Amino acid sequence: TSRPPVTVEGESYRTDEWTNTPETILSHVGRHLYLEDNHPLAITRKLIESQFPGPVYGNYSERNPVVSTAQNFDVLGFPLDHPGRSRTDTYYVNDKTVLRTHTSAHQQAYFQQINRNASVKPEEVGYTVVADVYRRDAIDRSHYPVFHQMEGARLWKRPETEPLKNSAVTAAAIVRDVDALPTHDVVVEDPNPTMHSERNPLQAQYHSAEEVEAAAAHLKKSLELMVIKIFTEASKAAAGLDPAFQPEPLKVRWVEAYFPFTSPSWEMEVFWQGDWLEILGCGIIKQELLNNSDVPHRMGWAFGLGLERIAMLLFNIPDIRLFWSRDERFLSQFQAGKITRFEPFSKYPACYKDVAFWLPSASAGSSVSAAGGAASVHENDIMEIVRGIGGDLVEDVRLIDEFTHPKTRRQSMCYRINYRSLERTLTNEETNDLHEKVRAKLVGQLGVELR
Ligand code: PHE
Repeated sequence: TSRPPVTVEGESYRTDEWTNTPETILSHVGRHLYLEDNHPLAITRKLIESQFPGPVYGNYSERNPVVSTAQNFDVLGFPLDHPGRSRTDTYYVNDKTVLRTHTSAHQQAYFQQINRNASVKPEEVGYTVVADVYRRDAIDRSHYPVFHQMEGARLWKRPETEPLKNSAVTAAAIVRDVDALPTHDVVVEDPNPTMHSERNPLQAQYHSAEEVEAAAAHLKKSLELMVIKIFTEASKAAAGLDPAFQPEPLKVRWVEAYFPFTSPSWEMEVFWQGDWLEILGCGIIKQELLNNSDVPHRMGWAFGLGLERIAMLLFNIPDIRLFWSRDERFLSQFQAGKITRFEPFSKYPACYKDVAFWLPSASAGSSVSAAGGAASVHENDIMEIVRGIGGDLVEDVRLIDEFTHPKTRRQSMCYRINYRSLERTLTNEETNDLHEKVRAKLVGQLGVELR
């Protein structure tokens, strides 16, 4: 059987039985929103890049989202049974190729580049990279299957012999770089030790505690300065509209985290308008990864963040779908280099429609799962059907009821779909038509029985 290949950014890729990337997703490739000077994602990108300037950091972007499973998972140390690898969570182009799920897919290439450039650009020991990333996920105002991440890393040279014994040299060099960073007076909560033998271990085979303490201090201070810059700009924009506006003092906290390619690892949270918000993940890069990327005699840190999350609070943008809007009422509100408050244009009416169904009874104990596993239907497959038909006309999809029949043990689900355009009022006819198509496809594709 021959399946047609797909073309992405001018490259052709074979497809196979792993392929699960629909045309509606591929049609988002190539917008390069982060390159449009007056787009809020580009403005956010530039603001963050300004905190990681040359000659130490090169600022890059990656246009083609197609990467190998090796780049996206294997070289980063993702175990074979990691849920991120499943077809319910990730868009596969074919069995060995995916739409990248994170910018970390490019870490190895940038570490190799640092090594290649060592003689011509010896000061460039760090980078930032921005790119579109793809994940199958729920539908609501803060989740969209295509979003943007920005990632950064910074390396230091280590003595080429017996690194652990000589690590004091590296630690001292890193401490000098920490001392060269500006100070700030924002309150930072950091209750946990930098490393913890079980929860957040030092890579004891490769690193000394003192060099990791130093690199962690550099990482945390660099990222604190970055969020302070962002939130200062956001407060200025809010105050510009309302001179009486009193910004709440910014609070930052560090919590322990886990990523397969860093250890120890942390997440930064920021207290913003009454809630702790997770802003980024980071950590000390796994030395095996650096050893496999032509820089065995260097160590360092990496971080990654979602640009939409930050842009939504910087510009007061209420719905993630707006970033893809071509409506002048949206686009005309943003200007390169300026942080402004978005003035929502009129909100069009919501149209709620429910769909209730029995899961296929063939497999005993069938269920919908949000976490994969043995379920007969994965919630992301339901989301994908709704997106495929409703596209950006769907604001969110929520499970509102679920029960198991006491006698037959069959399971019933009811989802509520909110159809609402950002740009116009939908007609009854139009939403009825979309909803009928969703119902038919749930039956045709997932084998559910409508109730
Ligand atoms: N890639 C991680 C994510 O998408 C973020 C990350 C980047 C964490 C770099 C640590 C270092 O969640």
